[in-house]
Amino acid sequence: MMKNTLQRANQAQQELKKKVNDRFYPDFHLAPPAGWMNDPNGLVFSRGLYHAFYQHHPYDENWGPMHWGHMTSRDMIHWQHQPIALAPGDEYDRDGCFSGCAVEDNGVLTLIYTGHVWLKQPGDDSAIREVQCIATSTDGINFSKQGVILTPPEGIMHFRDPKVWRQDNRWYMVVGARTQDNIGQVLLYSADSLYQWQFERVLAKADSHSGYMWECPDFFPLGDKFMLMFSPQGMKAEGYRYRNLFQSGYLLGQWQPEVDFVVERNFQELDSGHDFYAPQSFLAEDGRRIIFGWMDMWESAMPSKEDFWAGCLTLPRELTLDAEGRVRMAPVRELESLRKDRHSLEPISLKNQRCEFDLSVVTGEIQLTLDSKNSDAERYGLEFAAGESGQCATRLYVDNQSRRLILDRGQSGLGVAGYRSVPLPDDDLLELRIFIDRSSIEVFVNQGESCLTSRIYPPAQEQVLRLYAENGHAQVIQCTHWTLGCISK
Ligand code: FRU
Repeated sequence: MMKNTLQRANQAQQELKKKVNDRFYPDFHLAPPAGWMNDPNGLVFSRGLYHAFYQHHPYDENWGPMHWGHMTSRDMIHWQHQPIALAPGDEYDRDGCFSGCAVEDNGVLTLIYTGHVWLKQPGDDSAIREVQCIATSTDGINFSKQGVILTPPEGIMHFRDPKVWRQDNRWYMVVGARTQDNIGQVLLYSADSLYQWQFERVLAKADSHSGYMWECPDFFPLGDKFMLMFSPQGMKAEGYRYRNLFQSGYLLGQWQPEVDFVVERNFQELDSGHDFYAPQSFLAEDGRRIIFGWMDMWESAMPSKEDFWAGCLTLPRELTLDAEGRVRMAPVRELESLRKDRHSLEPISLKNQRCEFDLSVVTGEIQLTLDSKNSDAERYGLEFAAGESGQCATRLYVDNQSRRLILDRGQSGLGVAGYRSVPLPDDDLLELRIFIDRSSIEVFVNQGESCLTSRIYPPAQEQVLRLYAENGHAQVIQCTHWTLGCISK
């Protein structure tokens, strides 16, 4: 059954690929060859290869019956597209192979995912059936479905996104759930074998402010804590926080098998930009905890749909716990191997001025250090992809009065708008690492203390990068730009 549906899906993807226009297609982020992508799935390092699967609709550029797209890499940086790994169509996953994870079970690469069925109309969330399913592969490329391994507890309908790990000789699984009275939860299961699961406990659940459904849970040790990462639906905006349709963040606390999770740090957002959702973690070959997120948000404008593709993933980011017990998120060091064509500015003091870089392409990486203690300009920072006319610009600047770093995409091109911001760090220096791809920007602030990630859609022909200071001085200590090589075949 799956062989035919997979063949059809792969053919459809290849046909669609012929129509893809690559004006917004990323150079150094993972994206589908054609069609739709959402959550990263099944991230794993197995037998010398990194695998990244993803929610994929190969028939067109819109979300639809979910397949699992697949890419592999030897170094976590350069990726190769592989045939589609899972296609829906069996009775238990008839309408979608939803998000899930991958583990190695006695040398067998194993995918654990949610089988989704609409019980009324497609898209009607009030009547669905969701169960956890399994598929295995001996070559890491071709998978065969093995059926259902877990059904929901009594009264629970929304029951998805299993994440499995091994600890003390036992398998554990967290699953996202929504109760009948619309409370988001994470359920914990354990097993001797991946085929037979036992309910352990509700690991964590929402209060009245923190969401009706918790999607994509992931639970892992970080430093001397356990981190529960998840993507709640239904949190309301509070001032500068929770501004997107849905959020992604974490709780930190203490945990060991057979006891409750003791939360020590309440919900924190992982990224404050417009487009970051459903992150999933995995262990790098050397044990670093890395995540990829989906670099979009439901209901965002996605102008690349006109080009027959939509959706991409963030850069791989390493999570660490700092001395103050805060989670930091920084691009993995392997990305430095993509750097070429370095341009650097001498330290400079700008006064009511704009200073332009001499670059043929703006996309790439920028390291910028600003002396935020000794800069008195009302606004200072960077603007890019601004045409000569100044008509279209993405701005990243310090607003000295609110003491915030602002990412403003009010003029970032087709269909996107609004701004997001983070507080300035306490330090005297503001150290930014900025990655600009053809339709995205990621900003890492002071060694990953905070992050801003947003999609932008600037016209390709307008490639300008400027530093600026308005109404006062800005002290630029360092500014370096590299172009970055392409990552996928
Ligand atoms: C998160 C999510 C998951 C689900 C998948 C479906 O973005 O809604 O909960 O498994 O996407 O594509």
